[in-house]
Amino acid sequence: MNHATRFSGKIGEDYALFMLAVPHHEEFQDSVAAILKNYCQNVHAGKPVVVVEVGCGTGYTTRRILQISSVRVVAVDNEEQMISQTRRNLSDNSEGEGSLEVLCADALEYLKTLPENSIDALVSAYAIHNFTPLYRKTFFEEVARVLREGAFFINGDKYARDDCASHKRDLDEQIARLQVFREPHIDRPDLTIEWTKHYLEDELTRITESEQRELLESCGFTEVKYVYRKGMDAIVIAQKN
Ligand SMILES: C[S@@+](CC[C@H](N)C(=O)[O-])C[C@H]1O[C@@H](n2cnc3c(N)ncnc32)[C@H](O)[C@@H]1O
Repeated sequence: MNHATRFSGKIGEDYALFMLAVPHHEEFQDSVAAILKNYCQNVHAGKPVVVVEVGCGTGYTTRRILQISSVRVVAVDNEEQMISQTRRNLSDNSEGEGSLEVLCADALEYLKTLPENSIDALVSAYAIHNFTPLYRKTFFEEVARVLREGAFFINGDKYARDDCASHKRDLDEQIARLQVFREPHIDRPDLTIEWTKHYLEDELTRITESEQRELLESCGFTEVKYVYRKGMDAIVIAQKN
């Protein structure tokens, strides 16, 4: 498995269909943006809030972030196929209030180019679980370096519950939902196969709630909280000390 190019094939090309297999997808994405909005309201009034979004994919999360007034978003993704969908989907940004820069870059490499204490929030959805444990460790060290004091990390993602049996139940339920692509009106059994493979590969590098908490705390974050969970998907927030 090459973690750098997990979305270059069919599942990236047809990523828009993914939400059919996740009943809470809209609510989940809305919640990530609502948490960011709530935080932005408490940041220095009058100034733009600088937000980096890691793994923007097709711009699904980005579109919601752009609804927040005074945000300046840099949306980063390392796959051309995905970033070109963001560019297409958000080309005029006519609905958004914030400003947007879209970059095709590796998340870690991009963060390394930023000065210390230079961003107000780092946000992500369904991207960080794709990182290998080694990459993830360096990534969080960089996130802690570039976030200013008091800034927030907000991530909606696949987080395994600490209890293995509960996690196994979540995974089985989610894999059963992937059968939706076989229904006659969709008729994409290839996506059932590809997404099942993707979910099973995720198990090799899965991160539990406790592991994420420990990693964030070891990098200097406090107030690590899980504020949402449905099945495999959870939202974690943490504040940089
Ligand atoms: C599952 S998509 C999620 C897209 C979007 N956030 C959403 O929720 O709809 C994950 C994205 O993360 C990107 N990604 C994975 N690893 C990355 C890395 N190291 N640097 C930048 N982007 C990465 C993938 O290319 C993919 O587009």
